[in-house]
Amino acid sequence: MSIAKFIAGQLRQPAGFFGRRVMVLVLNRMNYSMNTLALEVLQLSPDDHVLEIGFGGGELMTRMASAVTRGKIAGADFSIDAVDICTKRFKQLIKSGKVDLCCANVEELPFEANRFFKVCTVNTIYFWSDPFVALAQIYRVLKKDGRLVVCFRPREAVKNQKIMQHGFTLYDPEEVGVLLTKAGFRDVQLLHRKYRFEECAAAVGKK
Ligand SMILES: C[S@@+](CC[C@H](N)C(=O)[O-])C[C@H]1O[C@@H](n2cnc3c(N)ncnc32)[C@H](O)[C@@H]1O
Repeated sequence: MSIAKFIAGQLRQPAGFFGRRVMVLVLNRMNYSMNTLALEVLQLSPDDHVLEIGFGGGELMTRMASAVTRGKIAGADFSIDAVDICTKRFKQLIKSGKVDLCCANVEELPFEANRFFKVCTVNTIYFWSDPFVALAQIYRVLKKDGRLVVCFRPREAVKNQKIMQHGFTLYDPEEVGVLLTKAGFRDVQLLHRKYRFEECAAAVGKK
């Protein structure tokens, strides 16, 4: 297996020694700027009840926990190793009931309908096997008027990177906007930011 394919697999689903010891740390550093965009667009309030899908090493969750002082944060990630690492990382917050993590695929979210004010996901859309099923699940668990924030690297910015040739489905921001609209989200907005050399996109929609 090539190194690019191995890294791509670890980005999709961190696993084993490499996933636990290396990949989650790399993710936390590498995706800091995109998490900053997610936070900006989420506009969290102290009482929010927010779900992050695909939290990886938990960098965004740490920052969300500082903003959501009275509310709750849930996380779903289909990597058992990411869940395990973050369960240790957020031990105190889990114990106090503020953070709740589970191992789950976005396409089968184990939450009741209309539960969250906000749902966010950063750098995971490339790995959804069926974006319509994933978005239908997100729509289901959001409350009415709840907000979805999807952050990702736009296709044009990354299409020539070797790693992206292995199991990534890349999207133009407009395509993600159309997906959200077809899934029933309204007031869909697209944002684009450039942090030094890094291009980040966000698609935002309301239930
Ligand atoms: C590239 S990492 C991004 C992690 C973090 N959001 C960040 O930006 O640093 C992708 C994460 O999403 C998770 N993931 C990918 N596809 C998923 C799916 N279909 N359902 C749930 N989690 C998924 C992976 O296990 C991994 O932790």
